[in-house]
Amino acid sequence: MVAEKFDSPFKGRSLLNWIDWKSEEISQILDWAIQVKAESHAGEIHQRFVGKTIALIFEKRSTRTRSSFETSFGEEGGHPVFMSTQDIQLGGKESVKDTARVLGRMFSAIEFRGFKQSHVEQLAQYSGIPVINGLTDDYHPTQVLADIMTLKEQFGTLKGLTLCFCGDGRNNMARSLMLICSKFGINFSVYAPKELQPAQDIIKICEPFAAATGAKISISDDQSVVKGADCLYTDVWVSMGEESLKEERTRLLKPYQVNAALMKATGKENAIFLHCLPAVTGQEVTEEVFEGPASRVWDQAENRKHTIKAIMLALI
Ligand code: CP
Ligand code: NVA
Repeated sequence: MVAEKFDSPFKGRSLLNWIDWKSEEISQILDWAIQVKAESHAGEIHQRFVGKTIALIFEKRSTRTRSSFETSFGEEGGHPVFMSTQDIQLGGKESVKDTARVLGRMFSAIEFRGFKQSHVEQLAQYSGIPVINGLTDDYHPTQVLADIMTLKEQFGTLKGLTLCFCGDGRNNMARSLMLICSKFGINFSVYAPKELQPAQDIIKICEPFAAATGAKISISDDQSVVKGADCLYTDVWVSMGEESLKEERTRLLKPYQVNAALMKATGKENAIFLHCLPAVTGQEVTEEVFEGPASRVWDQAENRKHTIKAIMLALI
């Protein structure tokens, strides 16, 4: 069987975060995600990954990311191979550099979910094949493409929208959202206590992108920062690997919960609610908002699959 051709100027590139991607390039991948979603809803069958293999390395747990990679690659004729750290020697008995060189001889691409951003970078450096970051402590680039897709479906346009992230402003989601919003001219606010506001390094990275697109970045522990937001976005208070910080996080973040009053404080009747999931309702978001009419979390979760397929079509 011969694979269907898919032309992309990005073949061979890695996606480690969106820093080195131009907004026109990200827009192109977004257009492909919209295309593959339409194909999927029309029941079309394509075979664009025939003869290809991808190693899916997971040091941390996953429902959406793993399912998106496995289903979208497999249904187009590709062969995904799941490897948890129970299965392979990664950074333990065998160095990340050596693992990269071995996988590079056997696979068409690698997806990595884990702790250190430096590990996904080393995999890309030494494997010689495209590497996709499926979440690290610092970034979650495939997630934010799905988030942007969901915003585009809702509002028709991205530039000039305002997204407010409520909660742990130092985490991988807040960092990645700041980056992609800056690149697309989406105003990005963070509603978080001083202790959990974004680190200077990511602000410095994003400032030139925001200046070029006109996106405004606002960070505050004052509730007025949510005013004018078209979207309130939140994430778990305790990210994977930080379980020991649960008590402190709950204390710090309780006042920043997304609830009906906070949605109302946006002043926008058609403001939507997004969450990368998994969610802990009753903590970062109330059941009322999560299950309510403003919530778009299931569309957002579905879009993980279409965006991940588009990313793999683009790079592999
Ligand atoms: N949002 C997300 O990455 O979900 P999983 O952890 O289930 O992959
Ligand atoms: N900040 C969360 C995102 C999960 C998709 C975590 O890293 O656990």
